[in-house]
Parts: sequence; C-alpha cells; structure tokens
Amino acid sequence: MGCMRILPSLLLLAVGGIWVQAEGNALDTSEENMKRIARSLGVECTHCHLATDGKVDYEAPTPLKETAIHMKVHFVDSLKTADGEALRCVSCHNGAARFLPRDVKGAGPSNLSERMDRKEIIRMMRRQAKQLGVTCDFCHARSEDGRLAPAQPTRHKLMAKYMMDHFAGKLVTLDGKPATCQTCHRGQAEFLPRSRH
Ligand code: HEC
Ligand code: HEC
Ligand code: HEC
Ligand code: HEC
Repeated sequence: MGCMRILPSLLLLAVGGIWVQAEGNALDTSEENMKRIARSLGVECTHCHLATDGKVDYEAPTPLKETAIHMKVHFVDSLKTADGEALRCVSCHNGAARFLPRDVKGAGPSNLSERMDRKEIIRMMRRQAKQLGVTCDFCHARSEDGRLAPAQPTRHKLMAKYMMDHFAGKLVTLDGKPATCQTCHRGQAEFLPRSRH
C-alpha cells in the first residue's frame, strides 16, 4: 500500500526532471551574454529572434536559435583547441555569422599531389567523403572528358579546405581526441538546424 503511494510521486519526479532539462537553457540568456553573442557574430538580436510589427518575441523558436544551441552544445561545450583553450562563439565566428570561404573567384588550383603521396590522398579523400555522406563530385569538378579535375577550385572544396586547416586536428574533444570531419558532420554535409528549413 505504502509502495503504491510512493510510486506515482517518484514517476512525477522523474518526469519533472526530464521536463526541467528540456526547458532549461542551453545558453545563458542574460542580456549581457545575448549582447556578447550578437557581437561575436556581428548581428542584431533579430538575426536569431523573430520580430513582428517591431515587437521581438524572444521565446519563439527559430532555425537560427536552434543553430545557436547546436553550436553551444556540440562545439563550445564539447570541443577545445589542441592546446587546451576553451572555445567561445567568437573563437570561430570572429565577428561574422557566415565566415566560411565560398567564392572561387581568385582561388587558384591546389597542389596537394605535389606534397602528398597519391595513395595517401585517395585514402584521406575517401574517408572525408564517407564522413560527409557524399561522393568525390560533391567537392570536385570534372573536365570535359569526364575525368575528375581535383586540383580545380570549387565552392565545396574551398569550404572543405577551410575545415581541414581550422577544425579537423586543430580542435580536440574534451577527452583529447582530435576532431575529425565525423565529429561534427556525422555522415552529413549539411547538418545545422538552419539547413533543414
Ligand atoms: C546567435 C543567435 C542569437 C542572437 C544574435 C541573440 N539571441 Fe537571444 N537567444 C538565443 C537563443 C538560442 C536563446 C534560447 C536559449 C536557450 O533556451 O538555451 C535565446 C534566448 C533569449 C532570451 C530569453 C527568452 C526566453 O525563452 O525566455 C532573451 C530575453 C534574449 N534571447 C534576448 C536577446 C537580445 C536582447 C539579443 C540582442 C542583444 C539577443 N537575444 C540576441 C539566440 C540568440
Ligand atoms: C568550432 C567553431 C564554431 C564555434 C565555437 C561556434 N560556431 Fe557557430 N558556426 C560555425 C560554422 C562553421 C558555421 C557556418 C558558417 C557559414 O555558413 O559560413 C556557424 C554558423 C552559425 C550560425 C548560423 C549563422 C547564419 O546566419 O546562417 C549561428 C546562429 C551560430 N553559428 C551561432 C553560434 C553561437 C551562438 C556560438 C557560441 C555559443 C557559435 N556559433 C560557436 C562554427 C562555430
Ligand atoms: C569534402 C570535399 C572533398 C571530397 C568529398 C573529396 N575531396 Fe578531394 N580534395 C578536397 C580538397 C579540399 C583538396 C585540396 C586539399 C589541399 O589542398 O590541402 C582535395 C584534393 C584532392 C586531390 C589532390 C589534388 C591536388 O591538389 O593536387 C585528389 C587527387 C583528390 N582530392 C581526389 C579525390 C577523390 C578521388 C575523391 C573521392 C573519393 C575526393 N577527392 C573527394 C576535397 C574533397
Ligand atoms: C568543428 C566542427 C566541424 C568539423 C570538425 C568539420 N566541419 Fe565541415 N562544417 C561544419 C559546419 C558547422 C558546417 C556548416 C553546415 C551546414 O550549413 O549545415 C560545415 C560545412 C562543411 C561543408 C559545406 C557543406 C555544404 O553543403 O554547404 C564542407 C564541404 C565541409 N564542411 C567539409 C568538412 C571536412 C572535409 C571536414 C574534415 C576535414 C570538416 N568539414 C570538419 C563544421 C565542422
């Protein structure tokens, strides 16, 4: 009998615990921190928050709010630099919401094959393709005869090169394992909540 009475309250506690977690803030929502985040990305509050008729609804969910929470949970709280420094929004964003290189104008051909053994290159490329869930053609152009032209710049190749230089190997997980493409991408090229909308 006593047991029967205790059980529901335990269940309630458990459910309450989950609810509290789901409703808890991933990001510190103080005005000071919100201002800092906006500054780190070089944006206004309304980049992430919904404004209707000049009134901002800070509570309403938006794709960029979800994206910001993804960054906090998976990047800021899960990774650090190889020399042990904590990450902040500004560490990667440095004042810009979108900072990845995308413009192929002025980008020359790459010369990796002059610096690295061909077999090694292909092995690395296959691994990257798998970790992003794509084929070689996602990043590389083809010449007129249909052959892969891997030295030629493309938008996705520029973005990949940026990740190779700034993220993979330069960042580590909290237990010290070097971040790979898989750490963030998990088999998908686009994975941010902003990309689903
Ligand atoms: C980069 C995106 C981003 C920017 C820019 C931003 N916010 Fe936020 N804001 C969020 C996210 C995400 C949350 C929800 C955090 C959570 O629930 O963990 C939030 C929550 C809030 C909340 C609490 C809302 C609630 O649910 O109670 C307030 C208030 C707020 N922001 C104000 C501001 C103000 C003021 C600015 C401009 C100075 C600003 N925000 C800029 C992403 C942003
Ligand atoms: C490890 C690096 C890294 C860290 C740390 C990081 N971000 Fe990002 N963030 C990115 C990358 C990469 C993109 C995609 C940029 C692009 O498209 O040019 C991005 C994009 C975003 C976007 C979408 C911008 C848009 O307009 O499409 C938001 C919002 C965002 N980040 C918020 C944050 C917030 C808030 C923090 C800190 C809590 C943060 N990020 C920390 C790497 C990072
Ligand atoms: C996610 C993007 C991406 C995918 C997918 C990809 N590559 Fe690459 N590839 C690159 C980048 C970036 C470079 C240049 C790296 C550098 O300069 O350090 C490169 C360079 C190369 C090179 C050397 C070219 C040179 O610079 O001399 C070869 C060969 C190559 N890739 C073949 C392949 C093959 C084969 C596949 C499919 C199995 C493939 N790549 C898939 C991004 C990609
Ligand atoms: C610290 C996290 C992180 C790591 C590590 C990382 N990336 Fe990314 N990458 C991102 C984010 C965030 C985006 C933006 C995704 C989106 O828009 O949904 C992105 C986007 C890309 C894109 C453009 C995809 C598109 O469709 O626009 C390419 C290509 C890419 N990454 C290649 C790589 C490669 C190759 C590696 C490994 C060498 C790598 N990334 C490692 C975070 C990371």
